Amino acid sequence: MHNKPQADKNFMKNIVLDKFSNHSIILRGFAVNLDDQLLVGINNVAGKSNFRHMKTPNGSFMSAAMTNCGEYGWISDKSGYRYEKIDPQNNKPWPHMPLIFKTLARDAADIVGYTNFESDACLINRYSPKTSMSLHQDKDERDFSQPIVSVSLGLTVMFMFGGLTRNEKPITKELYHGDVLVWGGPDRLRFHGVRPLKKARHPLVGAVRLNLTLRRAN
Ligand code: SIN
Ligand code: FE2
Repeated sequence: MHNKPQADKNFMKNIVLDKFSNHSIILRGFAVNLDDQLLVGINNVAGKSNFRHMKTPNGSFMSAAMTNCGEYGWISDKSGYRYEKIDPQNNKPWPHMPLIFKTLARDAADIVGYTNFESDACLINRYSPKTSMSLHQDKDERDFSQPIVSVSLGLTVMFMFGGLTRNEKPITKELYHGDVLVWGGPDRLRFHGVRPLKKARHPLVGAVRLNLTLRRAN
């Protein structure tokens, strides 16, 4: 008897990669089959730590509603941006990160070459029509050798991906329900954001876009 050659797991999953830079890759539809489970996870988290519009250091409010799960949660208030173990709204630890979030992030990172990615923080953004996120860098984490894994659910959005300086003109990429974007290495500190969401309705998620941003904060 011959041993069958071991099938390549990525080939088996038939993953469509949209590699728009060497270190920034969209895994198209990678999370589609997990959408129900991810939504259950998001609802459970939001039942314990509500979505809220955080205050920015300059006194305005973030247009996306946010919550967190995992050991650390990203927050913004009048004293700045940072990670905290406690949700300032209820003074309790952030809800546990659903295992499915952690596993999805590790698998996606692994496929594009970041092995053993152990996320300890997941920011959940909820965008309603017309809301956006202006260009920014993710730089409140301790170790920039760890990638960022970003999962899109619901309405399609135009994601902007700029350079390492704010004035570099961003390229845009549409992100669809189930897409997973991974960036790291030399791209880790690239400016990014999302254009205002267009009004529409997603059959499963409704009139919003949800985004999970998984990171290693500490
Ligand atoms: C973020 O950068 O925190 C969110 C990006 C997105 O919503 O895709
Ligand atoms: Fe970000």
